[in-house]
Amino acid sequence: TGAVLRLGEPLARKTTIGIGGPARFYAEPATEADVAYLLREAKSLGLPVLPLGRGSNLIVADAGFDGLALGFRHETWQRLELDPEGRIVAGTGVRLKQLCSFAAKNGLGGFEFLEGIPGTVGGSLRMNAGAMGGWTFDVVAEVTFIDASGALQTWPRERFHFGYRQCREIAQGLALSAVFASGQSGESESIRARMDSYAGSRKESQPREPSAGCIFKNPEGGHAGRIIDELGLKGLREGGAEVSAVHANFIVNTGGATAADVIALVRRIRETARRERGVELEPEVLL
Ligand code: EPU
Repeated sequence: TGAVLRLGEPLARKTTIGIGGPARFYAEPATEADVAYLLREAKSLGLPVLPLGRGSNLIVADAGFDGLALGFRHETWQRLELDPEGRIVAGTGVRLKQLCSFAAKNGLGGFEFLEGIPGTVGGSLRMNAGAMGGWTFDVVAEVTFIDASGALQTWPRERFHFGYRQCREIAQGLALSAVFASGQSGESESIRARMDSYAGSRKESQPREPSAGCIFKNPEGGHAGRIIDELGLKGLREGGAEVSAVHANFIVNTGGATAADVIALVRRIRETARRERGVELEPEVLL
């Protein structure tokens, strides 16, 4: 079927920050049945499972991942089409950039905020990824996923417990595909113009070097980036990892950074924010 199973697969190149050791087991399932089987086997062996999307919110340990990492590169997961109701059906492996281009091409507005998020459909559902005042569940109609018990489910948006950078049911399981609808139509040209303006503001306010996106969630009523900036921590370094001078909520890999470097920086930032501001910064990335 084109499914893949490998031992000791290097994971660094599957993350946007380019850090981390190998996965003990790595699989690229080709069917929903493959996924269900792999999850069952991992559970019975007591192996943790790491579903990989674009790897943009992920710091893999230098020692690697002692479990089963799953990649969704097979064409099964790349499905991207309109359903008879004119809604977008997308597989878990589709990149958000492709999803919002597809929406623009079909005159569907409301997806523009996805333009700059370096993620896939599965990853963005798992953490309700957001930008520019929107988040993934704004445009979700229904999701097909494997639940915590291993059963295949299709649920409408209303049944999920989601919030800022989280979706309980999907984080406990695994998203396979989703139907997206915004209820907005628009001219392809004005949709593209909005996407371009978002891309422009992102290029100005976010670093270009490899990173894992924002490291911390924004605390209630504040911005982690502004707080870290005000604490004077821009440019703080540990080995090859550095608090970005462009946006303080990004840690960039200046070359040769290790997971230990990033984790040390995260710890120093959290300690300083706690001591100086009494603020508890919670990581947004999977460490
Ligand atoms: N700011 C500073 N110094 C900095 C960075 C930011 O003073 O070094 C200030 C800005 O001037 C602005 C405020 O902090 O007044 C907020 O900054 P920004 O507009 O960049 O938004 P953010 O809250 O830092 C959030 C998301 C980003 C998303 C942007 C754009 C989180 C943790 N971050 O950032 O998402 O791209 O809005 O919509 O919610 C991500 O989650 O990985 C991510 C990059």
